[in-house]
Amino acid sequence: MCGIIGISSNKSVSANIVNSLKKLEYRGYDSAGIATLSDGKINEFKSEGRVDKLEQNFDLKNLKGNIGIGHVRWATHGMPNSVNAHPHSSFNVSVVHNGIIENSTVLKKHLVEQGHNFKSQTDTEVIVHLITENLKTKDFEVAITKTLKQLHGSFALGIVFKDMPDLIVGARRGSPLAVGYGPNENYLGSDSYALKSMTNKVTYLDDGEFCIVKKDQVLFFNEEGKKINKKILELSSNEASYDKGDFKHFMAKEIEEQPNTIKTGIKEYIDKTNSEINIFNFPWKVSEINSITLIGCGTAYHSCLMAKYWFDELTQLDVNIDIASEFRYRKNRFKENSLYIFVSQSGETADTYAALDLCNKNKMKTCAVVNVIESSIARDSKFVLPIHCGPEIGVASTKAFLGQILILYILALKLSSLRKEITKENYQEKIKDLQDLPKLIEKSLLIDNDIQAISSTFNEAKGSMFLGRGFSYPIALEGALKLKELSYVHAEGYPAGEMKHGPLALIEDGMPVVVLAPRDSYYLKTISNMQEVIARGAKVLLITNKIKDEVVSENIWETIEVENTNNDLLPFLLTIPLQKLAYYSALKKGYDIDKPRNLAKSVTVE
Ligand code: M6R
Repeated sequence: MCGIIGISSNKSVSANIVNSLKKLEYRGYDSAGIATLSDGKINEFKSEGRVDKLEQNFDLKNLKGNIGIGHVRWATHGMPNSVNAHPHSSFNVSVVHNGIIENSTVLKKHLVEQGHNFKSQTDTEVIVHLITENLKTKDFEVAITKTLKQLHGSFALGIVFKDMPDLIVGARRGSPLAVGYGPNENYLGSDSYALKSMTNKVTYLDDGEFCIVKKDQVLFFNEEGKKINKKILELSSNEASYDKGDFKHFMAKEIEEQPNTIKTGIKEYIDKTNSEINIFNFPWKVSEINSITLIGCGTAYHSCLMAKYWFDELTQLDVNIDIASEFRYRKNRFKENSLYIFVSQSGETADTYAALDLCNKNKMKTCAVVNVIESSIARDSKFVLPIHCGPEIGVASTKAFLGQILILYILALKLSSLRKEITKENYQEKIKDLQDLPKLIEKSLLIDNDIQAISSTFNEAKGSMFLGRGFSYPIALEGALKLKELSYVHAEGYPAGEMKHGPLALIEDGMPVVVLAPRDSYYLKTISNMQEVIARGAKVLLITNKIKDEVVSENIWETIEVENTNNDLLPFLLTIPLQKLAYYSALKKGYDIDKPRNLAKSVTVE
């Protein structure tokens, strides 16, 4: 999604703006731009493509200006090209924007009638002309307040003014925005990560607020334009974890980090000595909760589906799951004894945030399972369970998925124990098994040679299928999502038992099909479904777990065995080969693994 940076300093800012834009590259984008103020002028430079191309096209090193804004764009309105790239400027105002202005067509019509000329096809350019227009008749802060009120939709904005060369205005509605504090300079950024190399002191704007950032002062305002005070937070995580190290891609690094993700999660939530789960400060009595709704998008939604299987197995709770973009517009029946759990790596996904906001407005019990603890979803949920997996930079979610399902599994176990729906022995046995999980993941990661060979078949195929039943079904969905996202190969995740109700018609000679069939209670059923696809010509990659019994089936193309553990935990291990399959398929095709086409890490627009 689009990324914003702004710096107000006592020295030239272009180098730091470019560095920060590079930090925002992980969000996925198609063009980049920068504007600084110097000698009474707005200097605007924009390019289609990467930040490197912007640097190659223009001499940014010698670009003057102690104040400036920068942007990486993920196209919503208008093609990705240098004209539509941000900043957008009039003779006196320059704007960078993340979000969507829903009433841009109506506003543009009025502005054109008033004599404004538009250069781009973007919704953002409307903001530029609206401010220019409002500045004609209003005082500065009144003009800003009025402009923001005229905009419908979502935005994070960075704005500079030719005639006010000492300040940047930042504004937020829906899309996140942070202010950072440095020595003799202050910053604006879409997230704290963009500001990380310059400061660890930040303030997050809340919805409706705007700010004026000068090199030695930051002022905050509410939506009525009244001055307000805001807290400064000190961020903790260190810069080193943003480095690829010896890995070719962040995704490869993040896959290999998973034993550590699980180790850290276990350390945070499990009291080894007493075989107990450390979730003590739960703000509600268990008797106050009789149903749970889990909400997320993409991979995070798959975590919700995974959790449903565990909650159903371990508790009597009524558990529902929902895709955030569906939930937010559905007629929901909010019930007092429901707990709403929002799952998100970034904590900034617009649809998930909107679903949370809706629940908060209806006074529901809300809990966030997030990675970025400074995020909007974490800040606005009543209870937060962090997944502690460190920054995830690759657009394809890997370690965050395992982190999310770990925390959700631990929560299911804890609620089962508090509700007295599991025996003490069984509970402690499961906690003990969890502690072996990092080692088992470590061993299951040693499959690169096998997977590399197999991955070519998936690259060359027209399409592929990923099948699983029960606990393996959410993992099949996740495996298919990883393959389509990274190698642009059509991949469908399906419940194996559902194939004969339609999708079996897709199977033709040589079509690669992944079958997840661990030796759990669904094993024999899945093997029968596997036979049905083999009989129709599918090339089956079977993924199962290592046990002494041989697989009772013939004509399997390839088999991969992950380590063995209890049935609850097998999904963690089954995920690993699927992540690697997607990674190696994309690698062979030479695709941009950390930034797949058309996608963004943090989806901050609807
Ligand atoms: O940051 P979030 O977990 O809320 O993001 C949700 C999805 O956008 C995300 O999981 C997406 O599906 C991933 N790119 C999948 O790998």
